[in-house]
Amino acid sequence: MNRLLLSILLVANFTLNAQNPDMPSDFLSKEWHKERRQKVREKMPPNSVAIFFANAVRNRSNDVDYIYHQDPDFYYLTGYREPNAVLLIFKDKQKAANGSSYDEIIFVQPRNIMREMWTGRRLGNLGTKEQLGLEQAFDNTEFKKYNVNFSSFSEILFLDFYNDVRNDPRDSADLYDLIEQFKVKVNYPRKDALSVSREQPKNNLNMEGLNTIMDDLRGIKTKEEIEMIRKAVMVSCVGQVEVMKAMKPGMSEREVQGIHEYIFKRYQAEDVGYPSIVGGGHNGCILHYIDNYKPELSSKELILMDLGAEYHGYTADITRTIPVSGKFSPEQKKIYDLVLAAQEEAMKICKPGTKFSDLYMATAKVINKGLAELKVIEKETDRHLYYPHGCCHHIGLDVHDRGNYDVLQENMAITIEPGIYIQENTTKDPKWWGIAVRIEDDYLITKDGCEHLSTFAPRTTEAIEAMMQQPSPLDNFKLPEIDKSDPRKK
Ligand code: GLY
Ligand code: MN
Ligand code: MN
Repeated sequence: MNRLLLSILLVANFTLNAQNPDMPSDFLSKEWHKERRQKVREKMPPNSVAIFFANAVRNRSNDVDYIYHQDPDFYYLTGYREPNAVLLIFKDKQKAANGSSYDEIIFVQPRNIMREMWTGRRLGNLGTKEQLGLEQAFDNTEFKKYNVNFSSFSEILFLDFYNDVRNDPRDSADLYDLIEQFKVKVNYPRKDALSVSREQPKNNLNMEGLNTIMDDLRGIKTKEEIEMIRKAVMVSCVGQVEVMKAMKPGMSEREVQGIHEYIFKRYQAEDVGYPSIVGGGHNGCILHYIDNYKPELSSKELILMDLGAEYHGYTADITRTIPVSGKFSPEQKKIYDLVLAAQEEAMKICKPGTKFSDLYMATAKVINKGLAELKVIEKETDRHLYYPHGCCHHIGLDVHDRGNYDVLQENMAITIEPGIYIQENTTKDPKWWGIAVRIEDDYLITKDGCEHLSTFAPRTTEAIEAMMQQPSPLDNFKLPEIDKSDPRKK
């Protein structure tokens, strides 16, 4: 075959194959994302433009980057899962040079046969038009010369920058460049100017408004999002159930983590929504314990497991605390039942109109009273560190999702997650030391109450103990031993 023909065939094939044929088919649709952009437009002030940037690529070490995760606002509005892109949404129609009109435009990574061979398929501007339904899609290299007159808008809405984006010198239109080009276009005050005067810039830049708009939108889930959350929650519950069956003294925290995460992947969940927290014994007292290094769990301990599968962007957030031996000790059960009672109390008032702060107060009241009865604290009114966190947050594209944190409304998706953590030497009686319990469930706020989404994972001590009696497919999963001895002693 002559070289010209070969390169024509290569290019033709390259152009046609923008879409990965092996993608799952249950992602949110392009129509859904388009409708979300329209909702933003409706909430924007008159004569304004809103600008959103894709998330940065983060370097892990040397030439290895962290797995890319799109900025949740950007994903919500586009479905685009690649870096180095910028989206503009206009309140009113704009006129293009060719006379056509448009009210949104996106600049995306260009196709690049060499780069794609290394790091994967890119949609490019054509793929973005066809598959994401953004009619005005261009290569990001065009953004610099895109000359919409930003000074003509009453407001330019965007989220301020953290100045933590790396510049890739081989790419003149990476995120760093797109942000720099944007700053020039809109007269963004330079950092030194800001440090001289701490006042808000007196111009049309609005760096707050988008937070309110996106909180309002993302905090109320659509039926399509609720389906995603249901899947993420179910997958995460199955992980808890299978670990309950498989749990044995001597297992490591990391093995337990691995069982959960294997199950997430079995169901095609791409990732975890946050680093998995698997803390045996006193490690459970560290609220965001992600080391998960303990090599052997003891039969005397509880293990606190806070994990959420991320399914097509949407994450669950579920915690179960179980006894490694399969049976709660009397002290463990007392603390567990107290946390459970606190959660039940909040569930009773979990409905539209209830304040987030009321949910917290309901849990704290039960916990304080119970701790005083157990003599862990002296009086109910004592200040203490045994319940040091809030009890509820939205879940969605972020584990601590955007939303209004004032009053519950229909179609919010939230957690209720009371906990008690008793570190060593913090009470007179050592029988409580090292007991850490969190129970965290996910809920959908309905018209007049809430739907408890995570019931598949047992929650009472009796139900957990019964599940832990069940056989596990992992009981017979034996692997060869490897030498774990101290290399210094060889
Ligand atoms: N997994 C973090 C939290 O429970 O909020
Ligand atoms: Mn949580
Ligand atoms: Mn959690």
